[in-house]
Amino acid sequence: MCGIVGILGSKPVANDLVEALRRLEYRGYDSAGIATVQAGQLARRRAEGKLTNLANRLSDEPLGGLSGIGHTRWATHGKPTEDNAHPHMNDHVSVVHNGIIENFGELRDELIEAGHTFQSETDTETIVHLVTHYMNTGLQPEEAVKAALGRLKGAFALGIIFANHDDLMIAARQGSPLAIGHGDGEMYLGSDAIALAPFTTALTYLGEGDWAAITRNETRIYNREGERVERPKVTSVASALTIDKGNHRHFMHKEIHEQPEVISHTLTNYIDMANHQVDFPELGLDLAAIDRVTLSACGTAYYAGLVAKYWIERYARLPVQIDVASEMRYREAPLPANGLAVFISQSGETADTLATLRYCRDQGQTIASIVNVRTSTIARESDAILPTLAGPEIGVASTKAFTCQLAALACLTLALARARNTISKEEEREIIAALTEVPRHIATMLRSEPHYTDIAYELSKAKDVLYLGRGINFPLAMEGALKLKEISYIHAEGYAAGELKHGPIALIDEKMPVVVVAPKDALFEKTISNMQEVAARGGQMILISDASPDEAGCPLMQHIQTPQAHPFVMPLIQAVPVQLLAYHTAVQMGTDVDQPRNLAKSVTVE
Ligand code: G6P
Repeated sequence: MCGIVGILGSKPVANDLVEALRRLEYRGYDSAGIATVQAGQLARRRAEGKLTNLANRLSDEPLGGLSGIGHTRWATHGKPTEDNAHPHMNDHVSVVHNGIIENFGELRDELIEAGHTFQSETDTETIVHLVTHYMNTGLQPEEAVKAALGRLKGAFALGIIFANHDDLMIAARQGSPLAIGHGDGEMYLGSDAIALAPFTTALTYLGEGDWAAITRNETRIYNREGERVERPKVTSVASALTIDKGNHRHFMHKEIHEQPEVISHTLTNYIDMANHQVDFPELGLDLAAIDRVTLSACGTAYYAGLVAKYWIERYARLPVQIDVASEMRYREAPLPANGLAVFISQSGETADTLATLRYCRDQGQTIASIVNVRTSTIARESDAILPTLAGPEIGVASTKAFTCQLAALACLTLALARARNTISKEEEREIIAALTEVPRHIATMLRSEPHYTDIAYELSKAKDVLYLGRGINFPLAMEGALKLKEISYIHAEGYAAGELKHGPIALIDEKMPVVVVAPKDALFEKTISNMQEVAARGGQMILISDASPDEAGCPLMQHIQTPQAHPFVMPLIQAVPVQLLAYHTAVQMGTDVDQPRNLAKSVTVE
């Protein structure tokens, strides 16, 4: 959802802007650009497509200047062309923007009426002209930006520079994250700590509605009411090391293979291994007092939440409501007193998840978040943070973050169950033992990876794929379908196996592969019946199960054997085959696995 960066440097900034954008490319890769103040004049270079195109452009046409801003784009308003690439500018003002200006149409009409000429289809360019409009009335840059901000509706993080002002950068934040970095005689601006990690670890996060005037010697921050405010300086733990693929062809592959290690780290954070019990850090939550749990998230994180619904209801005997955040934020759902609302997010910045969190907080819920980025906005706005220790996830399709979310949610379930006396000591021990075996099981499964190449070849010929699962495996079926469509662009749907007969069975023929996620649990026999229904109609099935092919009792196109384990931990185990199936199918199709078309890793617009 666009990454932005800004530098007031002591040496030419173009290369450092590109280096920071490289670390932000996960937020969008439709186009990229930088602008600098060069001998008092604003100058820019932009390029359509990935950041390498911009880097190539800059090596042909270098850009000088000691101060500048940069942007990597995920297109919202206007096609991903060079004309629509940021920074947007005229002779006076240059702007980079993350977010959406909702009233841009009306502002644009007003500015065109006043004689301004637009060069792009973006909402962002409105800000350039609006600030210029106020400067034309005689206002200095800071006052002009302040006046313009008062007119903007929507979500934004902004970086703004001005001609003839080599020592001024203005930042503004409403809804989208933004951090100011403090260097030695240099100042920075970035969408996140990772972008700024090579330059500084001393950060100030702007609060909601804040804007700041930054010079090399002084930063003045103002709140929405225009009052000067102080925001704390924090030390970021983001690593300045270049994040690389190691010996793997793609980040996604590396991240799939990191799962045994990072799940282990995450579990160790919540489990007292010596005593075989969950040992939660002091969260300030009274788990015994909770009457109801609300879960919300987006994308893959939502499916992690859906698994947790099955766990929490079954083991902690608590009612759980769950919804995708983009729906929940507008549903005006009544929430009870003593409710715990849990938000799951790898990035901790997803706009819909954050908005739902704020809704639940306003409804008096206690807020806990399961996040991979501890300095994120969602983490900072929560009463309690349950971190996942997955490390940076670069592949747009989430893999290790998902299984670490499951690990943290499994531990939360056990903590709730213990607090409510709905689980015996023996059962808790048994499940903890099973959880600690998960990394070993995943490592075993990863050794049979070559098998997936053949199956992927079959899937790559399909136009549509159906994924079926029942009970706690239903979310895994949906996650499998999401993974496949995200990175291979093959249409796929995840369905509750029992719903097959209510519609999707009409789609079954010999050309439609059906992936069945069915460990040998209490519902296995029921799913087998659904598989018989598919077989009777010539459907080609791929069974992912710890049961043998014979136990399926019907013809299978392929069988993926998973290790046998306690049913509780099966979602963590089943996640890996669905990831590998999607990954190898995408490789067969030759798609851009780590940066699939139209997607972005962090979605900070609604
Ligand atoms: C995007 C990503 C998904 C991710 C979802 C939620 O759509 O492509 O992989 O699951 O956002 O992101 P979050 O950071 O909140 O987990």
